[in-house]
Amino acid sequence: MSLKVKNLKISRGTVELVVSGEVHCNRGEKVAVVGESGSGKSLTALSVLRLLPESLKVSGEITVDGRDVLKLKGEELRRFRWEKVAMVFQDPSSSLNPLITVGEQVEEALIFHGFKGTEKELKERVVELFKLAQIPEPEKRINAYPHHLSGGLKQRVAIAMALACSPNYLIADEPTTALDVTVQKRILELLKELSKKKEMGTVLITHDMAVVEEFAERVFVMYSGFTVESGSKEEIFRKPLHPYTEGLIASSPKLTGVAKRRLPAIPGNVPEPSNRPKGCPFHPRCPKVREVCRKEPPPAVKIENRTVRCFFPNY
Ligand SMILES: Nc1ncnc2c1ncn2[C@@H]1O[C@H](COP(=O)(O)OP(=O)(O)OP(=O)(O)O)[C@@H](O)[C@H]1O
Ligand SMILES: [Mg+2]
Repeated sequence: MSLKVKNLKISRGTVELVVSGEVHCNRGEKVAVVGESGSGKSLTALSVLRLLPESLKVSGEITVDGRDVLKLKGEELRRFRWEKVAMVFQDPSSSLNPLITVGEQVEEALIFHGFKGTEKELKERVVELFKLAQIPEPEKRINAYPHHLSGGLKQRVAIAMALACSPNYLIADEPTTALDVTVQKRILELLKELSKKKEMGTVLITHDMAVVEEFAERVFVMYSGFTVESGSKEEIFRKPLHPYTEGLIASSPKLTGVAKRRLPAIPGNVPEPSNRPKGCPFHPRCPKVREVCRKEPPPAVKIENRTVRCFFPNY
């Protein structure tokens, strides 16, 4: 039982926004997808839930517990979303309606997905979900409007809502970026606990290597539309194979103990998809660049249990 994305391509007209995306997450596993802004993390996540705008063309393999996600239609697709795979977004305010109490919103989600029970049972289920998301005083909090709650509590409500249908997998796209550091840590703890308790595969999207280190068991590193490296967290941190992964680790402020705003280990920026350089997309920023890197994109190679897309991995 797993969520698998392989050879994912997402394009808009002739521009490839994601060229080769890969994610693999088993039930109960904690996976991180990491990379700088513009690398294609959110598009990859949205493609799993089939939430991409129609203007984007998707191809490749997306399967969830053996089901071909790209073939789902109508009622089947509606049930698949939130019942099989649920999502939590960066900004909890955007997933909550400001005009309705948070309790009612979770009730609506339950009813939409076929909750059959009395009014009282419905309330009880919402309180139970709030407890699961470790919202203090849940009986009281169900009557609050989103603006009454702190950012951390709103994100917990969004998590409670995502759990409403007991999904097998949860994708969380930068769920802690808008929160301060202590709240961030608690939300990550909550996601870890839920992943274990509910045997839920959890895919966390982040740009922060410190978050990856704290949360994940398996890691997928994305750069300019490519998954450039994947492997277990231990292996990736012990010995990053790709120079980009190495740079991400070297410039993580929390890991090096020095606050750094940009990525001093890797100067430059992720290229626009319409302006991707020829050859390896990372070559203009790569400290190890050689002639061949400018000519053709490197294939993905397997090294033991890991995959890397580089002509000269650190191996
Ligand atoms: N609907 C769209 N039409 C055209 N280009 C898009 C569209 N959505 C995203 N893009 C582009 O695709 C690339 C990948 O976007 P994506 O949102 O997946 O990046 P990301 O890794 O999630 O970045 P961030 O860390 O900033 O959230 C970016 O260059 C973005 O500008
Ligand atoms: Mg994003």
